[in-house]
Amino acid sequence: MTETEFLDDLLARMTLAEKIGQLNLVTPGGDTATGAVVNTGVADKVRAGRIGSVFGVKSLAAVRGFQDLALQSRLRIPLMFAEDVIHGHRTIFPLPIALAAAFDPALVRRTARVAADEASACGIDQVYAPMVDVCRDPRWGRIAESPGEDPYLASRYAAAMVEGLQGEGIDRPDSVMACLKHFVAYGAPLGGRDYAGADMSPARLHDVYLPPFRAGLAAGAGSVMAGFNTLNGVPMHAHRRLLAGLLRERLRFDGLVVADYTGVAELMAHRVAETGADAARTALEAGVDLDMVSELFVATLAAEVRAGRVAEADVDGACRRVLAAKWRLGLFADPFRRIDRAPAGDRLLTRANRRLARKAVAETCVLLKNAGPVLPLSGRGVLALVGPLADDRVNMSGTWAVNNRPADVVPIRAGLAAVAGPGLAIRHAKGCNIVDDPVLAARLNVHDGHEKSVTIDDRTPERMIEEAVAVARGADVVVAVVGEAKEYSGESSSRVDLRLPAGQRRLLEALRAAGPPLVVVVMTGRPLILHEEAALADALMIAWFPGTEAGHGLADVLIGEAEPSGRLPVSLPFHEGQIPVAYAEPPTGRPFRGRFEKFRTGYVDMPDGFSHDGGVHPFGFGLSYTRFAYGTVRTDRLSVSPGGRLRVEVPLRNVGSRTGSDVVQLYVQAPAGPVSRPVLELKRFAKVTLRPEEERLVVFELTEDDLAASTAETIEDTGRRAQSGLWRIYVGPNARALDSVTVDWRTGPAPALPADAPGRS
Ligand code: NOJ
Repeated sequence: MTETEFLDDLLARMTLAEKIGQLNLVTPGGDTATGAVVNTGVADKVRAGRIGSVFGVKSLAAVRGFQDLALQSRLRIPLMFAEDVIHGHRTIFPLPIALAAAFDPALVRRTARVAADEASACGIDQVYAPMVDVCRDPRWGRIAESPGEDPYLASRYAAAMVEGLQGEGIDRPDSVMACLKHFVAYGAPLGGRDYAGADMSPARLHDVYLPPFRAGLAAGAGSVMAGFNTLNGVPMHAHRRLLAGLLRERLRFDGLVVADYTGVAELMAHRVAETGADAARTALEAGVDLDMVSELFVATLAAEVRAGRVAEADVDGACRRVLAAKWRLGLFADPFRRIDRAPAGDRLLTRANRRLARKAVAETCVLLKNAGPVLPLSGRGVLALVGPLADDRVNMSGTWAVNNRPADVVPIRAGLAAVAGPGLAIRHAKGCNIVDDPVLAARLNVHDGHEKSVTIDDRTPERMIEEAVAVARGADVVVAVVGEAKEYSGESSSRVDLRLPAGQRRLLEALRAAGPPLVVVVMTGRPLILHEEAALADALMIAWFPGTEAGHGLADVLIGEAEPSGRLPVSLPFHEGQIPVAYAEPPTGRPFRGRFEKFRTGYVDMPDGFSHDGGVHPFGFGLSYTRFAYGTVRTDRLSVSPGGRLRVEVPLRNVGSRTGSDVVQLYVQAPAGPVSRPVLELKRFAKVTLRPEEERLVVFELTEDDLAASTAETIEDTGRRAQSGLWRIYVGPNARALDSVTVDWRTGPAPALPADAPGRS
């Protein structure tokens, strides 16, 4: 039987109540700190066919129990189980922003494959990942879950995540259905305040915020989640033009559109709906298929249909998409295909999974400074390991690791001891609390069980610093592990002050004064303001939140068993006042003289050497333990005809004494045209590993499609066009250190292909 035949037959046998039941997505007594509502009576509703999907079920036995109940409903329609598997399920990988920093889609794909394997072994069919919200505002806490500021890097990340999660096909028992979120522009909230709306031109929407969604759809993502935000005044759960119009009609997406948590009910808070019935009707008609948690579809839609205010065909359409998802996931063939897969324990946290998580740490760490060079450490002598995150298990996973178990995590102290062995004496002192304010600490502990992420020590801050300084004085080197608590970034965790907490800054100053070389490792879910630490430290490295294998992975990097090969997927701000910040903004009319004159995107009062768009630590920046020399950038032609291709090559040589990797980046700058384009736009990158003295010709190929930009005058308009003229092609190790060639590129007179994604799962 084909999918269509099966769905036609089933739909014909369903009552209106049963169809609406399929649109109801709940979490059974799940508790969340940010959404006050949870569902009750879940078991009875499942048996009655009033629930179609469930998320956040915490054990395989409970998943099985719910599926048994669903099979007692009249039509025996299986449930679909979902979970937030954001950067690993039980084996936790570095945060999404860290994985973006790897500039390595193959690594991202592998971590997603492991996550899918582990999640499916726990009975999960669909995961609420990847989050592909481009973000240029580090005040927004959810930048931790985002692939950063750049649409091209984010697109590569989105495709790799979908490929890894969905594997060989979502009918496979070890695959899960991906869910691209949060559609769309949730990463551009006003003032960086979580849940706030975004306002932007159609072209900006299409050029910056939509590309990763389109890449994820092209990779076959089976579902999309609506954002909590408004866009140009319309809440996304009510955004008919973007959901029904752009996503379904123009981009031909035939998968599932999932509401976010109580997002349907929130239409009342947004004041686009008066009543629950208004909210349900508006969301359904806009294109939302699954109502998450608010249960307004089941509560109101039947009466709305009977009263003639909702067309039954809209209910049928949404129900068909839910059933199609279950069909494609193989659930009608075998409702237990993931539940029965294997003894789940055998698939979780395997040695291979841990090995990959450990490798990912080195790939995601971004080294910002290495004077001396002090890193890598010799691995002998006396090391003072200081800081509130140096011996911590609870924070290492970062935000959105709902199945993380702190007991699985390797702390930095234990990891260092294991990797360095007995030749290194490690002296430890906490040095300070993550934060000293008990009210803030209570908020940061909001998701924790008995083990808290922030504990405030009985000793005074002064006493703790004295102890740390005493430990530091006798050491050959000091490694300070400082940063945020895991929930300092994440949902509902926007910040206005992006420096390290004051107590930590005092600790670092005291350690500097103590004498020995100082290595500062920063754990964070967002780009922090770090120029003072960069001045203070001999070496400064961002380790993000590294996950389960934090200790081993970071020790590998510190001792030099591996090298830090991450690059900034975001520009590091100098001050909160310059936010939003990104390298790829349009130029201004008044280019002041200075180092970055040609890439100027606006004036603010910053000290010399810093620029609005990340002068000191620009996008793409990161050091290696070795050094690289770039040869002259060449192209295979100086003019390109319509429909043509351009080959760009640069020789790269490792001129240091260690094997190492660099991320070679290619940016373009558009010629003069009717619209002002960004000063630079990333179009290609390649992570290249070379032995000492080894040289490689790094080759990229560009087509006209790479040059195209949106011509949209309305938000549903997918038109794009590439400008003819003198294109500059820049190549180098980051968005500032670039060498260029100019090419006369004649593009076709007709708009370049819209490249609409087929969007089939
Ligand atoms: C709210 C978040 O915005 C979303 O990303 C998540 O998937 C849902 N809650 C479910 O936990």
